[in-house]
Amino acid sequence: MDTITIFDTTLRDGEQAPGASLNQKEKLDIAYQLEKLGVDVIEAGFPVSSPGDFESVQRIAQEIRRPVICALARATPGDIDTAYQATKPAGRARIHVFLATSKIHMKYKLKKAEDEILRLAVKAVKHARNICDDIEFSPEDASRTEKEFLYRVVEAVIKAGAKTVNIPDTVGYSEPEEFGNLIRCLRENVPNINNAVISVHCHNDLGLAVANSLSALKNGARQVECTVNGIGERAGNASMEELVMGLKVRKDTFGLATSIKTREIYKTSRLVSALTGFAVAPNKAVVGLNAFRHESGIHQDGVLKKRATYEIIHAEDVGFKVESLVLGKHSGRHAFRERLKKLGYKLNESEVKEVFEKFKLLADKKKQVFDDDLAALVLENIEGKVPETWKLDTFMITSGSHIVPTAKITLMVKEKTFADCSSGDGPVDACYKTIEKMTNVRCRLLDYSIRSVTKGEDALGEVNVRLRTKGREISGRASSTDIIEASIKAYLQVVNKIEFLKK
Ligand code: KIV
Ligand code: ZN
Repeated sequence: MDTITIFDTTLRDGEQAPGASLNQKEKLDIAYQLEKLGVDVIEAGFPVSSPGDFESVQRIAQEIRRPVICALARATPGDIDTAYQATKPAGRARIHVFLATSKIHMKYKLKKAEDEILRLAVKAVKHARNICDDIEFSPEDASRTEKEFLYRVVEAVIKAGAKTVNIPDTVGYSEPEEFGNLIRCLRENVPNINNAVISVHCHNDLGLAVANSLSALKNGARQVECTVNGIGERAGNASMEELVMGLKVRKDTFGLATSIKTREIYKTSRLVSALTGFAVAPNKAVVGLNAFRHESGIHQDGVLKKRATYEIIHAEDVGFKVESLVLGKHSGRHAFRERLKKLGYKLNESEVKEVFEKFKLLADKKKQVFDDDLAALVLENIEGKVPETWKLDTFMITSGSHIVPTAKITLMVKEKTFADCSSGDGPVDACYKTIEKMTNVRCRLLDYSIRSVTKGEDALGEVNVRLRTKGREISGRASSTDIIEASIKAYLQVVNKIEFLKK
């Protein structure tokens, strides 16, 4: 299998995305992650565009060791020299020179004729090649360039020393068959084409950047330019993660490998999203939050029976940790039962049925039902069935200014009484510490609230507690005219639920 070169331009074309400005430290952080991800070339910036960009490229060139560090330059000596200065500290540096070759760009933007463009391209590549060994040339807007002229330019720049010729679909105008043909035509019509690597750089204006790039690879391109999350000018560039996973999942048809460590993909995507401020759409291929989640009952049932029925990529392969079955109103009983099992609830069939009915009602109101919601449903269902294993018999509190609050509690278990005492930060804390000591059930108090449920001096106080134990949140509630008694009973309710769940 051929291994293709992954040229990442997140820090150059990606950063050109309107609104995606990164500071030097952020660019360096991304570059470190790209290195970890295993990209072959990092296009770190366009050094002549600003002193800040120059410094960022230079810093990346100083610190990032494994990948080739590339900088962009227009076809002028000034741009090329600046790119050279910025990339000089790199172990392996590349200068990427570009010049537009399409009629529309030459006539309106550059106001130059074909021969002049050809001369400038060759001159620029020769100049660059005198100072740097690794030169890439891009005939900008190549996909809208007259074919015969494109062949002449590509042949001339290779002769002048370009080692990579990059064919950009600058405005994302091409379609896959046409773009693939263009690469094939270049291979058939440029006599010295084998002296250079053909690269492609596709924009996503028609949503075809990845398809066009893959088609080019099928037709002989061996470097692909792309960005993390597909960010870039206008509608962006070909998305790195989609290309890489496309090649990996469909190696039967492409027969091409990359050196990307796919388990780093998700982390890289999140980092770029956080630093650029560009959210990743939930339905984005490969890295979107929903990319590995199944909600429909039919799909969930299929995935549980055999994952490959509805999954072509394993979430773990791109470093994504996800509960792939989203419980919602479309979920079926199979997925529901599996999730309960996973959460550690062993319910019999009739209990599953009862909780499933409650779940369906909840799912109608709520888009997604999370694990905590399920736990609450299960507990609500067992509420009436939980036996009072631990029962309050008596309690005594000493509390006041200048004394340490202490609780003495007597509990009953199976007609036997046990007593113990503890001190705490307050009378309730002293009670809870005593109960913990006696029952040996360890929990963390997450929430404690008290309110009066009736009026008058003999009002009932209702205490609500929420505790966490072994990753589960469980709540209890009790009322009494004595708020300490209500507090103890609410806590004991949780302890009894935990004992019941253990069984
Ligand atoms: O889209 C484009 O044509 C470019 C070139 C500079 C390669 O970004
Ligand atoms: Zn571009």
